[in-house]
Amino acid sequence: MDKKRGSFSNKMGFVLAAAGSAVGLGNLWRFPYLAAKYGGGIFLLVYLILAVTLGFTLMITEIAIGRKTGLSAVGAFKTLDKRFSFVGYLACIVPFIITPYYCVIGGWVVKYFAAFLSGQGAAAAGDEYFNGFISQPVSPVFWFALYIMITAVVVIFGVEKGIEKASRIMMPLLIVLTIGIALFCITRPGAGEGLKYYLLPDFSRFSATTVLAAMGQLFYSMSLAMGIMITYGSYMKKNSSLEKSVRQIEIFDTAIAFLAGLMIIPSVFVFSGGDEAALGKGPSLMFVTLPKVFEDMTLGNVIGAAFFLLVLFAALTSSISLMETNVSIIQDKLGWGRKKSTVVVTVYVLILGSIVSLGFGPLSFIKLLGLGLLDFFDFLSNSVLMPIVAILTCICIGHFVGSKTVEDEVEINGAFKVKKFYRIMLKWIAPICLVLILFFAVSEAMG
Ligand code: PHE
Repeated sequence: MDKKRGSFSNKMGFVLAAAGSAVGLGNLWRFPYLAAKYGGGIFLLVYLILAVTLGFTLMITEIAIGRKTGLSAVGAFKTLDKRFSFVGYLACIVPFIITPYYCVIGGWVVKYFAAFLSGQGAAAAGDEYFNGFISQPVSPVFWFALYIMITAVVVIFGVEKGIEKASRIMMPLLIVLTIGIALFCITRPGAGEGLKYYLLPDFSRFSATTVLAAMGQLFYSMSLAMGIMITYGSYMKKNSSLEKSVRQIEIFDTAIAFLAGLMIIPSVFVFSGGDEAALGKGPSLMFVTLPKVFEDMTLGNVIGAAFFLLVLFAALTSSISLMETNVSIIQDKLGWGRKKSTVVVTVYVLILGSIVSLGFGPLSFIKLLGLGLLDFFDFLSNSVLMPIVAILTCICIGHFVGSKTVEDEVEINGAFKVKKFYRIMLKWIAPICLVLILFFAVSEAMG
């Protein structure tokens, strides 16, 4: 990264770049499988409530302190209150945990793209195809390595701008295609049950686990509680409205997650019966369900290939932003050059990611806290570290630095419409709820 900070040339530029980081596998792959598993409509409802309360509060706080200080997480916390410097460091650990397994899923996407491109859609729709694939020792590691290489090449040669440009075409296409596929799915016989499950909250399914899962998903999907939005904020110009930008990013991110659910959950009912086992598939859900949908379509191979290519783009813009974050942390802390830092991060991701990938095959005997490797890292970042970072951020800004710092920053561009609400959320509601959820997560994990 240059010594002098550039900034986004226009208002939309910031929103699009932040949305590019936010929209990714979290929306398309993770949201639907959690919604399917944790009660459909009730999960959706809890998620939406959290998005406009907790998500809004945290995102506006992070972007504001980034823009105010002009620094990324470590520097920003250090400047605002020396005693909270460690929060910046803690936030930096998160992308190091997420990147390896994110790229493993990215590899699955490349594999499915290749499969549909070579006309193997029918095989991919078979029940055992996915498990057969991820349990192999070599193939998933190969596709994972290919994915991380694409990411690394983009970062090393600094062609992020090109990818961003391309994704301005790819993202709208992805949305159009997702809407098309969702329409196809919800008009199949038997989809009504699935629609009901997804859209009508069943309050008897509500539990603390629903809230925990929805909250972890919120952080993950909106790239919160890991310093990324602070960095993005540091590049934001003083003349764009913070409040409005945050709204736009949130709406965009949530709408895509919602659509992904609309495409996948009814399909589970149409093609797999919609029983608990089919709904509780977890990380494999998208890869098991969608090929069945494409198989049912005319030109399924072409549509499948196009879909996975667009998903690949959305995933890449996110993994590039993850990788960038890791690289700039190494650059800043160790004073290494950009190339060297990128190579070292890539090797690290290759090693840890391969282990995660093998966790579905030869290393499947390894269980940490009763979880497989991918689920373990996912739990560690989303249910433990991110809530801790979020709590500390609320305490630091709400009670030590003062919410006024954020409020003033927002008010540079006009009135802060929900200032009172923001202040109460930041100081009291968010940290208290987060502490409760964290306790619950840890006690669950400890059995
Ligand atoms: N928010 C991204 C997604 O939904 C994942 C991500 C997390 C990207 C953190 C960058 C940083 O897929």
